Amino acid sequence: MNNVTIFDHPLIQHKISILRDERTSSNQFRALVEEITMLMCFESLRDLPLEDVEVTTPIATTTTKMLAGVKLAIVPILRAGLGMVNGMLNLVPSARVGHIGMYRDEVTLEPHEYYCKLPKNIENRLIIVCDPMLATGGSAKDAINLIKERGGKHIKFMCLIAAPEGIKALTEAHPDVEVYCAHVDEKLNENGYIVPGLGDAGDRIFGTK
Ligand code: PRP
Ligand code: URA
Repeated sequence: MNNVTIFDHPLIQHKISILRDERTSSNQFRALVEEITMLMCFESLRDLPLEDVEVTTPIATTTTKMLAGVKLAIVPILRAGLGMVNGMLNLVPSARVGHIGMYRDEVTLEPHEYYCKLPKNIENRLIIVCDPMLATGGSAKDAINLIKERGGKHIKFMCLIAAPEGIKALTEAHPDVEVYCAHVDEKLNENGYIVPGLGDAGDRIFGTK
């Protein structure tokens, strides 16, 4: 699949398995979401541009590399995407954070937007949209539509668990968006939940079940 990166690193797979376990507490769940996001962030930013800088060490002056001033925006899809923000900020503390509020109607599975606040100069930023779950793909597609309507151009989407249906829907709607997921599961069930998945990510992060 073009533009889709699936992570097969053993550390990520191990942590995803603990995340799935219904016995994992909200406390542990939150910590794992943050850790997995941090590992994925590391790899998903592999193409950040570098520039030469001169540095004087205690021994000599040398030309070395630093990030070439790319401006980042992290945009979690509320609620569950919030759990991924700190994992990103741990590695890129200067990133700005926008928020898009979406909830899925439990019967129609259609996404509904209830909030959108993005950082200034969104058109000049590399935007990482975060949501742990890509199920039908409706929420991710609509969130990215909102960002594009507001001028966003260079967009990546990061999720922890995806259904094949969601990947297809998202990549067809937004072929320009690079998609990163830790694992692609088997399918969606009749209620639109990912199988085997991990349940409702928002409820598990915030302990609201
Ligand atoms: C979940 C999840 C995604 C969406 C995925 O959010 O965090 O945003 O469902 O489903 P989709 O790909 O079929 O659109 P939910 O609507 O449950 O809201 P919440 O995060 O506030 O719990
Ligand atoms: N949203 C979730 O939180 N989990 C799913 O399995 C599907 C959508």
